[in-house]
Amino acid sequence: MSSVRGKVAVVTGAASGIGRQLALELARRGARLALSDVDELGLGETADRAEALGAAVHTARLDVSDRAAVEAYATAVAGHFGVVHQVYNNAGVAGGSTVLENSWADYDRVLSINLFGVIHGTKAFLPHLIASGDGHVVNVSSLNGIMGQGRMTAYCTSKFGVRGFTESLRAELLAAGHPVQVSVVHPGGVRTNIATAALEHARAQGQELTPDDEARHRAYTEKLLRMPPEQAARIVVDGVEAGRPRILVGNDARAVDLLVRLAPRLYPVLVARAERRFAS
Ligand SMILES: NC(=O)c1ccc[n+]([C@@H]2O[C@H](COP(=O)([O-])OP(=O)(O)OC[C@H]3O[C@@H](n4cnc5c(N)ncnc54)[C@H](O)[C@@H]3O)[C@@H](O)[C@H]2O)c1
Repeated sequence: MSSVRGKVAVVTGAASGIGRQLALELARRGARLALSDVDELGLGETADRAEALGAAVHTARLDVSDRAAVEAYATAVAGHFGVVHQVYNNAGVAGGSTVLENSWADYDRVLSINLFGVIHGTKAFLPHLIASGDGHVVNVSSLNGIMGQGRMTAYCTSKFGVRGFTESLRAELLAAGHPVQVSVVHPGGVRTNIATAALEHARAQGQELTPDDEARHRAYTEKLLRMPPEQAARIVVDGVEAGRPRILVGNDARAVDLLVRLAPRLYPVLVARAERRFAS
């Protein structure tokens, strides 16, 4: 029997992509769900599908970058279910360009959602996870929390930050003897809306996208974002059930993990070479 059966699991960014599939996978394995997102339409669809799988579902519009809102949300979820066992801090965005071209707003947005969103969700729910007696924090980093990449300084900073925060949290909870496991997730390319959403955000900000930008986006999406999100979600929940502290999702993430360790000085040269190939 699945170890998540009957557990209360919180999933942020549940309207799309990996978050939606995490919700559905957890529903299949018998969890009760607290689902949130800023996209209420997509969230409603995820909730309907999870309920059709038999899950009890609580939904809320939540912007994970809003500290006070996340704190109030944690209280509301704990009040609704009476207990919270697992939190999947999944919500995230891509975006930004080179350091020279990025605005301060690009850094603020990516860091406040991807990094502070994870810190908010962890800190707000941690007392409830401890109280459950069988808690689990699952923070979604990235392959870019292992490997730096050009034109992605905001994203890589946020994802390296998630990894540092999560590994530090693990040490802290182990030292304190709290009954909470901690996993950091490093997905490689997963076929979701993340790159398109970043492009749409840039357009909505009035940025002019050059044909080069469009071509880079197409190449990135088609060649790198390949794993179906359903498969990614299964790997994550399997990892959580197995109590894995580090969950690498996909051969690309595993290869990068190895490359960065075996060739720490060479890898940026290889990454730059690959990026030039993508841009041409
Ligand atoms: N797709 C990939 O290849 C990939 C690779 C590595 C890591 N990741 C990470 O996986 C996570 C999920 O991304 P995805 O690929 O499923 O993308 P996605 O765009 O399909 O889904 C992200 C969800 O987060 C929501 N979101 C955005 N800003 C939010 C905010 N401020 N508050 C609450 N929700 C917000 C979006 O509305 C969306 O529903 C992200 O943290 C992402 O960085 C994705």
